Amino acid sequence: NLSHIHRFVPGQDRQHPPLLLLHGTGGDENDLIGLGELVAPGRALISPRGKVLENGMPRFFRRLSEGVFDEEDLRRRASDLAGFIAEASEAYGLGAPVALGFSNGANIAAALLLLHPQALAGAVLLRPMTPLRSPPPAELGGKPVLMLSGAADPIVPAANAGALADVLRERGASVRHETLPAGHGLTQADVQQTKAWLAGL
Ligand code: MLT
Repeated sequence: NLSHIHRFVPGQDRQHPPLLLLHGTGGDENDLIGLGELVAPGRALISPRGKVLENGMPRFFRRLSEGVFDEEDLRRRASDLAGFIAEASEAYGLGAPVALGFSNGANIAAALLLLHPQALAGAVLLRPMTPLRSPPPAELGGKPVLMLSGAADPIVPAANAGALADVLRERGASVRHETLPAGHGLTQADVQQTKAWLAGL
């Protein structure tokens, strides 16, 4: 048995990396399966459930309040999730996945890029924010990252998302950061941009 409750959808597409689906606060392993099938038809999908509960709502790490993270817990959970990715890759015979994370799931994906870069082949970060105040040095060697922010997002200030793009670029990631006319929720434009970007990987 693997370390996280999860869903696995085997793909027919063996040319492209699998997607690691990471849900937002209050979601679960079922939430992003439909989105994954829409943006990357035929790819294998690995979708773990976050192990932290906040008033019954699953998340990937603890927070002290909205936008204020328990960084010690975040580091521990990121390491745990990197372990799950290795277990799942072995169990299902897959290479390193591209993360597709929304909100809290985007934030743990960003933490994985900074703390365990070998765990991911790349990442789509939907409404992410800066996960760590002082991230360690890392070598991202051109890893592809798409960040999609919302111009009217009440949870993520524009400067915070911009700082994450800067931190990833400084470490050598190949970052495309777009700000969409949207709030924190996803729109058709997120689906279209993600699909087009993944097709070009
Ligand atoms: C977080 O806690 O990761 C962010 O505030 C996003 C959220 O889950 O609402």
